[in-house]
Amino acid sequence: MKKILLIGNGAREHVIAETLKRSPQGCELYVYMSAMNPGVLDNCHTFRIGKLDDMEAIKKFAVECKPDFAFIGPDNPIADGAADALLEVGIKTVAPLKICAQLESSKAFTRELVAKYGIEGSPKFRVFTTSNGLREFIKELGEYVVKADGLTGGKGVKVSGEHLANIDEGFAYAMECLNADGRVVIEEKFIGVEFSLMSFVDGVHVVDMPAVQDHKRALEGDKGMNTGGMGTYSDANHSLPFLRPGDLEAAHAITVKVAEAIYKETGKYFKGIMYGGFMAVKNGVGLIEYNARFGDPEAMNVLPLLKTDFIDVCERIIAGNLESVEFENKATVLKYIVPEGYPENPRKGEKIEIGEVPAGVKMYYGSVDARPDGVYLSGSRALAFVGIADSLESAESLAQSAVGSVNGPVFYRRDIGTAELIQKRVEVIRSLYVL
Ligand code: AMP
Ligand code: GLY
Repeated sequence: MKKILLIGNGAREHVIAETLKRSPQGCELYVYMSAMNPGVLDNCHTFRIGKLDDMEAIKKFAVECKPDFAFIGPDNPIADGAADALLEVGIKTVAPLKICAQLESSKAFTRELVAKYGIEGSPKFRVFTTSNGLREFIKELGEYVVKADGLTGGKGVKVSGEHLANIDEGFAYAMECLNADGRVVIEEKFIGVEFSLMSFVDGVHVVDMPAVQDHKRALEGDKGMNTGGMGTYSDANHSLPFLRPGDLEAAHAITVKVAEAIYKETGKYFKGIMYGGFMAVKNGVGLIEYNARFGDPEAMNVLPLLKTDFIDVCERIIAGNLESVEFENKATVLKYIVPEGYPENPRKGEKIEIGEVPAGVKMYYGSVDARPDGVYLSGSRALAFVGIADSLESAESLAQSAVGSVNGPVFYRRDIGTAELIQKRVEVIRSLYVL
């Protein structure tokens, strides 16, 4: 029986908890959480409620429960150095040290690292600490992206033609970022289709999970505001219908080189999950960004398919002897139920009723409040339904059959995982080759 400390309380941590509990080794799970997630609670032995940025409270709980190791789910405690804090009390973590977590917490760090080590996939970019040459560089790029340097949940990124209508708007937003953070990243805009490739990394060995596609826009047809992700899908062959031969290999090669570069640059091994946001572009694969953790929702597409003992995978990440990891050849489609008004003005504190979850569908609790008389919305993505089947079509019908079972002031994207939307992605890739 292993004792494991898990930090976090979203739907991602629900699936992490469930997957650790499935281990044949047996698992006593201790959870440090900032809110009562009923799915995490169902899997846990003991929990502590506290703030995720309170390193002293995290250390205190860890010392009390003496886990074999810790797993940190969300980006904020990882960026704040929760792995370093736990190491101070002798606990190793599946999550990078703060210095390695800059891979996610600083966009400038990652762009500069990739450039310094000559790794492919980078757009043209410059990191500005003053306004010198800024307007000229935006002009030179034509189509460009302005990125605030720090954890902004994707909200600090503005893209020309989408959020920025002209050079003046781009310059003004770049100056806003510069004044707030002291620096700003300006880069070339990629044209293509995005995908997520997450890998288990022990510092040296990189083992990929099935590729996943997320849908960031709030509304059907990719309209509306950017969100944390409204839903995702993955295919039975672990690739995606719009990818070309060699795309996943190219993305894998970038992650291997970046893991190596992090060690050379910091003297520390990255141990945890490297989650690459890539774009399939005309000439191959572009690197949009890295996250230093599992994706939410992507974790819920891949972990239910994990055949290898998850505790063994975690222990090998820590020991540095990670080998192959097996996943079932199934397709998954995930649809998130979110409060009406999400992401700008989400309904909160309202009760939702959840009907019976159909066979073949998994349900994960996200931002909800479990009270004695039921489940209440707490303002962000509330419930995830994952259909798992042999084909994307069947997985989509399963997920769709489940979302309707929720009653309350909520909505979801019906189009995620449908043949029609997937075909549109395939068409975008085809259009890159039309002169
Ligand atoms: P990030 O926080 O870096 O993932 O950026 C948020 C979103 O902005 C991404 O999911 C992309 O849709 C978009 N984005 C970021 N960088 C680029 C780029 N170089 N080219 C095109 N789109 C981008
Ligand atoms: N799926 C988006 C994220 O986890 O950042």
